[in-house]
Amino acid sequence: MKHSVLTAFPQDFLWGASTSAFQCEGAAAEDGRGPIGRDLHKPVPGTTDFSVASDFYHHYKEDIALMAQMGLKTFRFSISWSRILPDGTGEVNPKGLEFYSKVIDECIKQGIEPLVTMFHFDMPAALERRGGWGNPESVQWFVDYASILYKNYGDRVKYWLTINEQNVLIFLAEKYHTLVFPKECPNVLQEIYQQNHRMLVAQAKAFALCHQLCPGAKIGPAPNISFVYPASCKPEDTIAAENYNAMRNWLYLDVAVHGRYNEIIWAWLKEKDALPVFAPGDAEALAAGKPDFIGFNYYNTLTCEEDDGSRPLSQATDQQTARGESGMFRGCANPHLKTSPFGWEIDPVGLRVTIREIYARYHLPMIITENGVGAAEELTADGKVHDDYRIAYLKAHIEQIGLAIADGCEMMGYCPWSAIDLISTHQGFKKRYGFVYVNRDDFDLKDLARYPKDSFYWYKKVIASNGEDLG
Ligand code: BG6
Repeated sequence: MKHSVLTAFPQDFLWGASTSAFQCEGAAAEDGRGPIGRDLHKPVPGTTDFSVASDFYHHYKEDIALMAQMGLKTFRFSISWSRILPDGTGEVNPKGLEFYSKVIDECIKQGIEPLVTMFHFDMPAALERRGGWGNPESVQWFVDYASILYKNYGDRVKYWLTINEQNVLIFLAEKYHTLVFPKECPNVLQEIYQQNHRMLVAQAKAFALCHQLCPGAKIGPAPNISFVYPASCKPEDTIAAENYNAMRNWLYLDVAVHGRYNEIIWAWLKEKDALPVFAPGDAEALAAGKPDFIGFNYYNTLTCEEDDGSRPLSQATDQQTARGESGMFRGCANPHLKTSPFGWEIDPVGLRVTIREIYARYHLPMIITENGVGAAEELTADGKVHDDYRIAYLKAHIEQIGLAIADGCEMMGYCPWSAIDLISTHQGFKKRYGFVYVNRDDFDLKDLARYPKDSFYWYKKVIASNGEDLG
């Protein structure tokens, strides 16, 4: 649809930016924080560990002041479960509670709405030792942790996100061990989807508890949604794309919003003898917990074709690369799209497609909780970073959000990844996403000084004009 007049961004649109605790806080062993699983494993060769990260723990006031200078209306950050509960359950760490209280207060003082993710890829090591999401008690662990957050911060936090990218944890589980598997695991697929089920139940209970303990607050999920295109108009390719969309995207949102499983995935799991087993009360919990909005991370779309068994299936190398599933779909490259320096396809129009599709399916307001481009960057001699490619990337995506709003979709906000430079999940500090350069490398901590990049000043103008001036 071509629009002759564009609809303006809503006046209360939440222009923001995102981070996550383990990727930016550092202070990994400070003030009583318990280790997370990642702290105990060797980092990916050639990349840093997560012990110092961007040292947000010690720079939070300076960082939030920079965010305020940029004009951010919201800051999406995550709380480290093991900073609050070093053992994952039981004794609360007062220093941990205090840290996030100070971060929240600082945001509010600077006129920035905190948008809090409860769990972003950082399961406490103590809980991993107890089996992680493989332990049936994990549902209650998460609900108890959520309850502590609501009771301590619910007076100030109006927007909550439950689990970051549960779908990524699931589809990378086997290859990258994003879940903990029991020693004896005869049916790996069933185990993965059983753990997935527990997370879905935990999330539904956290939705319900939020509404009970924090009246007026809003809560949503935060999956990574990559709409899947069929490689051609061959009908079988469309079936493949529907399968891939169901498995990667809609399974998670169908349960979160409607409290029931996606039928395509249910049928596939049944055929594989991998259906999740419902504990007593699960069905009721899924039906009772409802989100108020949908948060989703968007980096790109994916493309696939029919898997007719004639060629090997593509293996995902990371969360944004198309993969294959025997008899369901075979991921392939999209010849119409360019790729980022780190090999991810770039598809701003795909963001409009994704927004329209999510809205058509769920009719809830949406906030984009991550979107951005990673690049290796150098500081110039005069302390600048000329990230024109990031400006071009974000501009193209914001234009498409504008078009989606004109299409009638309800958008609450946009939080690019990331507010400041931080450690990539598996490519270290050399893959930078921030509006603010943090002066360190993978193996040289330098002075950790902060330098606004060109994109910082550009985004400031975008926000000041409420999306009218995209430069
Ligand atoms: C998302 C995650 O998948 O993508 C973030 O929620 C992550 O934690 C971001 O950092 C970018 O991915 P990567 O692998 O480049 O860090």
